[in-house]
Amino acid sequence: MNQSIELLNDGIQLESGPLPGWWKSILITTLALCPVYWLYFHSGAPGRTMADAYDQAVFNNAQLLFAQIGELNPDADTIRRFSAKDNWVKVGKAIFKSNCIACHGRSGEGIIGPNLTDDSYKSVRSIEDIARVILKGANNNAMPAWEGKLQTNEVVLVSAYVASLRGTNVAGGKSPEGAEIPPWPPVPPEPEVSQ
Ligand code: HEC
Repeated sequence: MNQSIELLNDGIQLESGPLPGWWKSILITTLALCPVYWLYFHSGAPGRTMADAYDQAVFNNAQLLFAQIGELNPDADTIRRFSAKDNWVKVGKAIFKSNCIACHGRSGEGIIGPNLTDDSYKSVRSIEDIARVILKGANNNAMPAWEGKLQTNEVVLVSAYVASLRGTNVAGGKSPEGAEIPPWPPVPPEPEVSQ
């Protein structure tokens, strides 16, 4: 007799009775909930993943931080300055995630709207045009106007984020549209704080 059979030969019998009902119901409930869970969290709908929740928290916190920066103007210097401030670009990214990814993609790679990660633009010739297009819209509202829907500070920060996307050339992005434009101007110095 070989050893493995001896080990089994301890008086314990292997039965083939049915699984207990409570055990089966846990299994079936888990299986039934699985697609619900999957659809909810992985269908790509914005705002449901932990990362999106984090972005939302950053955004909510930003509303408090807006007090620090006052009312910004959507001009070239302001947008360029903020495009170089990582913490504020993150806020711009959260605004982008809440409002823009349906048409421009999660990383700005372009879906209905153009790719914002290359050097070619349809309506943008200089950096302040980003804010102008966001405020006023473009192409008969194919790009909606956000004036009145976003606060001016939000427009500046989302513009700064869009400016920062330039040159990231996300893999698999939409092919370039419009014309290649000159690089953004250098980051201007911080304005003097007048007391
Ligand atoms: C309903 C879809 C849609 C949404 C939502 C949308 N866009 Fe657009 N966007 C477009 C389309 C389409 C264009 C191209 C318009 C054209 O043909 O000139 C565009 C153009 C732009 C441009 C100019 C790009 C270029 O090549 O000149 C910028 C910048 C931009 N969008 C930023 C944003 C930002 C920031 C948001 C969110 C606040 C946003 N868009 C939300 C569809 C959208």
